[in-house]
Amino acid sequence: MLSHRRADFPEGFLFGTATSAYQIEGHAEGGAGRTQWDDFAATPGNVVHGENGARACDHFKRWPQDLDLIAQAGIDVYRFSLSWARIMPEGIGPANPEGLDFYDRLVDGMLERGLKPAATLYHWELPSPLLDRGGWRNRDIARWFADYTYTAMARLGDRIWSAAPINEPWCVGWLSHFMGLHAPGLRDIRATARAMHHVCLAHGEAIAAMRSHGMDNLGAVFNFEYAQPADESPEAQAAARRYDGIYNRWFRSGIFKGEYPEDVLEGLGPHMPEHWQDDFATITAPLDWCGLNYYTRKLIAPDPGAPWPHYTEGAGDLPKTQVGWEIYPEGLHHFLADTAANYTGDLPLYVTENGMAWPDVPGVPDDARIAYIDAHLGAVKLAIAEGVPVKGYYIWSLMDNYEWAHGYGPRFGLVHVDYDSLQRTPKASYEALKAALRTNP
Ligand code: NOJ
Repeated sequence: MLSHRRADFPEGFLFGTATSAYQIEGHAEGGAGRTQWDDFAATPGNVVHGENGARACDHFKRWPQDLDLIAQAGIDVYRFSLSWARIMPEGIGPANPEGLDFYDRLVDGMLERGLKPAATLYHWELPSPLLDRGGWRNRDIARWFADYTYTAMARLGDRIWSAAPINEPWCVGWLSHFMGLHAPGLRDIRATARAMHHVCLAHGEAIAAMRSHGMDNLGAVFNFEYAQPADESPEAQAAARRYDGIYNRWFRSGIFKGEYPEDVLEGLGPHMPEHWQDDFATITAPLDWCGLNYYTRKLIAPDPGAPWPHYTEGAGDLPKTQVGWEIYPEGLHHFLADTAANYTGDLPLYVTENGMAWPDVPGVPDDARIAYIDAHLGAVKLAIAEGVPVKGYYIWSLMDNYEWAHGYGPRFGLVHVDYDSLQRTPKASYEALKAALRTNP
């Protein structure tokens, strides 16, 4: 049982669930082009068991059942993503009619079930031909992305309730180009600086493309991790501050304030592309909402011997999820309050992702996930009580799916997926959410 119910939240507060294309669809179906995640997973050592999204949850064929599951839980919003390579197999040039038809049916299917479609244009599966041209290192990606966005929304934009260009720009920039843990797996500061900027530029260009179709309710989705200094020393505080700058401040500052944090530019500045300062007019295109994805905190320790940003990250001794992430709901409250106070003011905020990986099996109640969701709903309620304009909360994820470099091991779903039979089985957390969302309990 969840202790929080729909009636405890303000009138009109929206509950949602989220997925992404490559993680659930089954990318081998329907004429989609090759992506950087197919390439990355094919390189030994990058992904657990070398698993990829070729089959995933077979959502490409089973989507009616999946939408039924969302609607039957009483969920209001379905946050999903469009696959660039499914819509434009080469990344640029001709569209794949089968891909556009698929999303067309999917969006109509949501509307028929009373679900609000919340689309993301880029959830990481860059078409491989664009990686060959430098991917996020190449400034042209902003134009390629805007063209794709324009094409996708010419077909779908009239029925999309809300849209965000890019999921978690930190993952696109830092995790993929500095840490090398996501595709394309680079560890290169120059590539990182370029990706960290071009992802902001591409965001702005895509917003303009969607506005040109008359779309509204457009936003951005950022991810956050609370940076906890490993001890009380000034060095640990400074290291945590650097982590916070790269992770939590760079993108909000660029997109909402038209400037990058000075303390991050200390490291990235020498590697930035030419004339980056001139791009802020595009990057700061006005938005209608801001989305926050939040899961955990990290303990940050100074590491003077390491190259900039001179820190190492680790976990503390709080209870952890299946992927070792500490459970720290206070961080969600912190970022909601901080975003409103320092970046967005009255702009509506949505928790666009929150949830936990837990190694559950059908028939065994996943109490830990229920407790996780409950605690984070408490953090949302606290923020609302303080006047922070939080308008919705979406759970990651509807169903177990491809967890990127971790493969299919971590299970984030409200619904269990048997990867042999592809059978879906609602978990206890699904039932708990359904009970909490009932308007007449
Ligand atoms: C962030 C991402 O948007 C999503 O793709 C991922 O599966 C979840 N968080 C869990 O790590």
